[in-house]
Amino acid sequence: MASLEVLITERQIQEKVSELARRISADYGDTPVLLVSVLKGSFIFLADLMRQLGPNTEVDFVQTSSYGEGTSTSGVVQIRKDLDVSIEGRHVLIVEDILDTGLTLAHLRELLGTRRPRSLKVVTLLRKPDAAQRETQAEYVGFEIPDRFVVGYGLDHAERYRNLPYVAVLHQEV
Ligand code: PRP
Repeated sequence: MASLEVLITERQIQEKVSELARRISADYGDTPVLLVSVLKGSFIFLADLMRQLGPNTEVDFVQTSSYGEGTSTSGVVQIRKDLDVSIEGRHVLIVEDILDTGLTLAHLRELLGTRRPRSLKVVTLLRKPDAAQRETQAEYVGFEIPDRFVVGYGLDHAERYRNLPYVAVLHQEV
């Protein structure tokens, strides 16, 4: 049996997405920006965020996979799906749903940084304490959350719960 405890309501999320969109729009102005969405978890956040950004906004997708999950993390992050476009000379904004250990972002930032973007920033809806302590930081953070297993608004457990309009802690009774 599993139960859900709402951590962030749909309304709180929508207000935060609007606030982030306002900040991003204020910073970039009319400058064209390429959103790099990290699949799969960020797709709902991306869709809501992107619709509140200006007309000079484009999008591309990457997918990563980390190894060592469940045991000690190996720290190895692999690219399962790479970008379709070149980012050289472009303003790039990575869109993440959650920074947990922060490893995925650290590797992604390093990789994309080698491709000579004009600028490289990060927006994440959620951030856990471990990621907040890492050197690799995100310029835009929606919510700082405790170190709990969360689902909803794009985040899954075994591919379920991504379609919940809110973020919830998943309690699993064993
Ligand atoms: C999640 C999330 C981030 C990453 C963060 O993706 O979307 O990409 O984990 O974890 P980290 O900070 O510890 O590296 P996940 O691998 O669960 O894949 P998914 O988005 O397809 O569910």
